[in-house]
Formats: sequence, C-alpha cells, structure tokens
Amino acid sequence: MSRATITADRDFTVGPVPHRLFGSFVEHMGRCVYSGIYEPGHPQAEEHGFRRDVLSLVRELGVSVVRYPGGNFVSGYRWEDGVGPVSQRPRRIDGAWHSIETNAFGLHEFADWARQADVEIMEAVNLGTRGVDAARSLVEYANHPGGTCLSDLRRRNGSPDPFGIKLWCLGNEMDGPWQIGHKSADEYGRLATEAGKAMKLVDPSIELVACGSSNSGMPTFGTWEQTVLRHAYDVVDNISLHAYYEEQDGDVASFLATALDMDHFIESVVATADAVRAAGKHDKRINLSFDEWNVWYTRRPGEDQPDAISERGGWHEHPRIIEDAYSVTDAVVVGTLLNSLLRHGDRVRIANLAQLVNVIAPILTEEGGPAWRQSIFWPFSQMANRAKGQVLRLAVDGDRYRTEKFGDADLVDASATWDDENGCVSMFLANRGLEESAEVSVALRGLDTARIARAEVLTVPAGADRFATNDAGRPDRVRPAALDGVVLDGATTRLTLPPLSWAVVELDVTRS
Ligand code: AHR
Repeated sequence: MSRATITADRDFTVGPVPHRLFGSFVEHMGRCVYSGIYEPGHPQAEEHGFRRDVLSLVRELGVSVVRYPGGNFVSGYRWEDGVGPVSQRPRRIDGAWHSIETNAFGLHEFADWARQADVEIMEAVNLGTRGVDAARSLVEYANHPGGTCLSDLRRRNGSPDPFGIKLWCLGNEMDGPWQIGHKSADEYGRLATEAGKAMKLVDPSIELVACGSSNSGMPTFGTWEQTVLRHAYDVVDNISLHAYYEEQDGDVASFLATALDMDHFIESVVATADAVRAAGKHDKRINLSFDEWNVWYTRRPGEDQPDAISERGGWHEHPRIIEDAYSVTDAVVVGTLLNSLLRHGDRVRIANLAQLVNVIAPILTEEGGPAWRQSIFWPFSQMANRAKGQVLRLAVDGDRYRTEKFGDADLVDASATWDDENGCVSMFLANRGLEESAEVSVALRGLDTARIARAEVLTVPAGADRFATNDAGRPDRVRPAALDGVVLDGATTRLTLPPLSWAVVELDVTRS
C-alpha cells in the first residue's frame, strides 16, 4: 500500500476553470466525419445526416469547443469546395491522408452539427497551400452579417445568420516537414502575422492561435515558438502545443508518468512566450492552446496506419485510419494528462482531445451499426462535466516511484476544483501503482465538508487485465463504478484507490 496526503486551501487557487479546456477535434481524416459524426442513411441519422447516437455521446462527453477541419488535412483544403449545393461540390484528392474527399460535409454542415452538439467552433485556415486572401475571405464568409459578395453567398447557401466563429487557428503544424506547404519559422511567422492581421480587419472580435511546434521533440522546438512570436506577438492571442503519447517497449512505468512530460512541455512554452513578451516590452500575455493531445499508438503495426494506407496505393473515401482501441492503462494516462492541463489552467486556456470520433477517439462507431464509449471517454467526461469554479493549487506529499524516462514520479496524481456557487469540491485522482493500492487523505482548509456527494472509480475489470478495452460486443466493459469506503474524518477525507485506477470524488462544502 502506498500513501499520499493532499492539502488544499480555499484561498490558494490557480484561477477559474477554463471553459475551453474540454475541447476536441474533428478532422476530415479517416472515419471521423464520414460514418463518424455524419452518415446519411444510418438508422440513427437525422435530417442533415448527423448520427443522433453520436451527437448524444458527444453531449454526454461534455465537449465545449471543437477544432475543424484539420489537422494535416487543412493544409491542402479549399474551404470553398465545402459550401454551396452538395451535388456541385468537387471530389478531390486529400494528399495528407491519401484519401478521396467528397466535400459532402463542409462548413455549413459543421456549423449545423456544432449547434446540435452544443459546442463552440474553432476553425483552422489553410496556411499551407493558401494564404492571406483565402483566410480573410473565410472570415468574411463566416462572420460578416451581409451586404458583401461573400456574406451574401453564405446567405444564399442557406445561412442568413453569420456563424459568429470567434476562435481561429492560423494553419496546422507548419513546422513539420510532412505538412503540405511546410515553412521555416520566419516564413510562417510573417505569413501568420499578415493573415491574422487581415482576418482581424474583417472581424476584430476574433481570437487567433498561432502554430507552435508539432511536438516537443522537434529539433526546432523552442526556437520555432520564439521566432514565430517575435513576428506575430501583437496579432495573435495563443500559441499551440501538440503531444501524443504511447507505451513504448513495455515501459509502462514511464508511460503512466507521461503527464510529467506534458507539465514540462507547457512550462517550457510559457517560459518562451514570456521571454518574448519581456524582450519585446509587450503588455499582453500569450496563452496556450493545447489543441491536439491524446494517447496514439503510432508504432502499432496495422492496416489502419497512415503508411500502410498510402503504400496500398488506391484512393478511397474515408478509409479506416488510426482507430486505436483504448485500454484501462490508457484511460488512467488520459486522466493524468487532464490533471496536468487543469493544473496549468492559468495559461492553458484551450485544449482539444484529438480526435472526437473513430480516429484516435473517445467514441467509436460502426458504419450502419452502433456507437460506443472507449475507456478514455470516462476521465474526459467526468472532468468536463464536474470541474467547475476555481482550480485549487494542491500540495501532494506521497510515495514516489522510479521511471526510466522522467525520473521520480508521484504514485498518486491529483487535481481539484472548488465551485463556490454550488458548494462543491471535485477531486480527480489517479493511482499509477500497478500492484499497490494507494491510501489517500485529503485535507481542505477554509472549507467545511458536509458530505461525500459522489465517489467513482475506473480500474481493471474483474477477471481482466490492464489491457482491457471496450468494443461493439462489450461496450461497457471498462467504465466507472462506485468507489466504496470513502470516509469523512473531520476536515479530512480518506479513501483507498485500487491499483491502476482513476477516481472522481465530490464533496459538498461550505466556507468555514
Ligand atoms: O490528429 C492526427 C494528426 O496528428 C493531425 O492531422 C496532425 O495535426 C497531427 O500530426
């Protein structure tokens, strides 16, 4: 049995829970759009072709904002192909994912879907093959009320009201040599500045995200952010981060501690952005948009890997690409990544779990068949629906373990929020110990606890191992259950986390 003592004080907070921290990502990639969120002819499809079963899972997931339409896809995309009468939209080659794009689904469809899913749109413009003019035209088409060529075209295309898109990405992963239209930091920094300037001239109320590095292992990581922000500081509001993690070579101890890498990544980008702020004598701060993050088994051999798809040669509509099945271990890791994002909520204001459906996603579907929740659905939905009010700054004092990649790591990883309005503290706890349970005590200062309102745990199901997943036949195999034995002992809450587990505990509290 390992031990951890957690202390929180009502007056020590990180800041308000950022609403956009619980975002996701819909890319025209694989089966995320086609046969994911959109499948006309499916028994559950509504009048636009949106799958009702998927919409209902997306609402349950608690997603606040969805990035669209890519990803690598956006760097070769003409947004005009996706508007106007569907029968006249062109079929095109999507070079990024070696697929055929029919354009049956485009901006209007996405805006309709987003309205039904109750999510904000985060729209990416193409700065790979296109530039300033296409970017500002898209803002005019989407956001200008009417009386101009492009806004009237939108009205004729069926949307009299503007879409009112506030959040815009200036391209995608432009530092990556694989990106269509890949650029140097200076080239991208200049282009992002000019595109962003022109976009804000059309609609000054929009918020912009500049591309940071594709991952922290890029050789240009750090200098890329510095150069881009030196050019674009006055125009942009956020800089992006992307990170995908996987268990490598059976090193599960390091995999379970990958949130340490996320912590380090975030803190490095904050430091870089603030150094540019100081050197440039700027007042405003640039915030962070962690707009792609997840577990992704990039090394798992399989027919659905991007390399295998392009090697097959043929061009197909919505092929299966990277439809990873997520295990209990992955769910615990995703929980700790969410903890990291929440703990950094003072600077990470936007985060997007990549992606939403089928492609490395919390929701899987079968064409013509069911939709179900993957293991990673649970930590995301629990935190998105329960983290409210202020993020509490926690002091965690507990047993640690050794990892190959990240040195020593806490066995118990935690984050918590305090919602003064509703009198509720929500705690999000992971036990990284594979064999040992963890005895946890939580002391709250400045708050009296009236009762334990909720206690749930996700762990290895009986008779299974840490690789257990959900599938169409067993959609509820991995899911949270009641966490028994949580007790209140004066100002302290005591509980035991089973080995390899993720738990959510909610307390009804009043100010003391
Ligand atoms: O999410 C899958 C892909 O990963 C995205 O298209 C790209 O931006 C990233 O490399």
